[in-house]
Amino acid sequence: MPTVLIIGASRGIGLEFVRQYLIEGWEVHATLRTPDSHLPLKGVSGNLHLHRLDVRYSDQIRNLANTFLNHPIDVLIHNAGVSKSSGGAKEIMKINSEAPIELATALLDAVAQSAQKKIVLMTSQMGARGGSTAKLDPYGESKAQLNDHFRSLVSAWSEKKIRAIVMHPGWVRTDMGGPSAPLSVEESVRGMMDVIRNLSLQQHGSFLTWRGDTHPW
Ligand SMILES: NC(=O)c1ccc[n+]([C@@H]2O[C@H](COP(=O)([O-])OP(=O)(O)OC[C@H]3O[C@@H](n4cnc5c(N)ncnc54)[C@H](OP(=O)(O)O)[C@@H]3O)[C@@H](O)[C@H]2O)c1
Repeated sequence: MPTVLIIGASRGIGLEFVRQYLIEGWEVHATLRTPDSHLPLKGVSGNLHLHRLDVRYSDQIRNLANTFLNHPIDVLIHNAGVSKSSGGAKEIMKINSEAPIELATALLDAVAQSAQKKIVLMTSQMGARGGSTAKLDPYGESKAQLNDHFRSLVSAWSEKKIRAIVMHPGWVRTDMGGPSAPLSVEESVRGMMDVIRNLSLQQHGSFLTWRGDTHPW
């Protein structure tokens, strides 16, 4: 079965990706800041492998990449993100904008060695620089910078035949999205997995929603 690596899987959208890919029988690798004490994934059946990672630390990103030196990753999903941080705007930028690019770059060869060669970086409609959804507070700005950086790498990544997108998961009922959000995590992740399953080479470099629509930058 194919292999998926989900970055930031302790709760919310990341945890639901783990659940649904396990149900589909995939080999699932999931990163958590504290895998030893993580209750929701204890006793989960299936081909699940947990890894320790706080995306703020480059040495931990390098360690994770070393684990996958000879282990192809069909689908890499960078989901970890924060809307607020005690470390302020600088830390929000580090986690939401710098870490996904650093991590995807470190794992690029592992993805390129796989059959599917897919990368999904979780962005937000609030990171669109134009249109009605733009919200350039520190969170929106961090996602906008992620989008900008992603777009600057698209042609280099296409040389390796990688299919990479940034994706807006919808407004989802999680700790971050809050209880008023219209979408459940199950619906959002089901939609995103359909988009990932059908991702074509032509869509490489796109900003897509959980429904597969193209989102304006
Ligand atoms: N929910 C929405 O409506 C919505 C809308 C647009 C975009 N998004 C994006 O979707 C992604 C997931 O959101 P969510 O709603 O599931 O959020 P969430 O419930 O707040 O979960 C955030 C996840 O990111 C992890 N994380 C945070 N900082 C980390 C770090 N330094 N290192 C490693 N992992 C870290 C958390 O781990 P810990 O448990 O260890 O903190 C947790 O697993 C985020 O990128 C978010 O920006 C969400």
